[in-house]
Amino acid sequence: MSADSRRVDTAQIEPHPRLHELLRRHQRETWRAPLHAPTALAFDRVHAVLAAQRRDLILDSGCGTGDSTLALAAHFPQHWVIGIDQSAVRLRRHAAQGCAVIGNAVLVRAELASFWRLFNAAGLHAEQHYLLYPNPWPKAAQLARRWHGHPVFFDLLRTSAHFELRSNWQVYVAEFAEALRFSGRADAVAEPYVADLPLTPFERKYRDSGHALWRVCSKQNASG
Ligand SMILES: C[S@@+](CC[C@H](N)C(=O)[O-])C[C@H]1O[C@@H](n2cnc3c(N)ncnc32)[C@H](O)[C@@H]1O
Repeated sequence: MSADSRRVDTAQIEPHPRLHELLRRHQRETWRAPLHAPTALAFDRVHAVLAAQRRDLILDSGCGTGDSTLALAAHFPQHWVIGIDQSAVRLRRHAAQGCAVIGNAVLVRAELASFWRLFNAAGLHAEQHYLLYPNPWPKAAQLARRWHGHPVFFDLLRTSAHFELRSNWQVYVAEFAEALRFSGRADAVAEPYVADLPLTPFERKYRDSGHALWRVCSKQNASG
């Protein structure tokens, strides 16, 4: 990856004024869109792996090439670390067949919104959930495509008590933190982040391009 990455190009310079309105609507209405069928098949394969050997779980959603999943798996050798991405091209190196088990890492090609709903429906819960450099969808009109503006957001929250999201777009992180606080996680604050040891290819690319990086961590339950 080259080290001359362009900064996020957007006219939106602060959290979206309609974020709370959208969150209230999504909190009120259960999202019932049909599940993505290939993801349901992939989830069954993952679930069989997890059921065969029970371990605590870590999710790496939008894992791209899976490099971060493998690094987290090495760091947490007693856990299953599950990396999920819809891109066969990005996953190709590690999960050509759609689901690959590499030591204690599970790499799966799947669509995240469906995967999270299936994960919750199966009664699973992750000890930690990483969302590293999600697609920014930087136009103001694209708010509903960002994870905190998407109808799946409250399903996403149920997957774990511990979230970490990173981005090179401060507004995305500030909005995600605001959505977490809206949901009762008072500890969620956007903060600058220095990636001395980049965990993902995008993190390395942005660091090498001199971009400021941001993250939000929350370890608090809605009731906490
Ligand atoms: C900007 S890349 C970041 C990849 C990796 N986390 C990194 O930092 O190098 C965002 C990733 O999210 C994946 N993605 C976006 N929307 C998705 C969805 N609905 N389901 C599954 N993967 C998705 C894309 O395929 C892409 O690999």
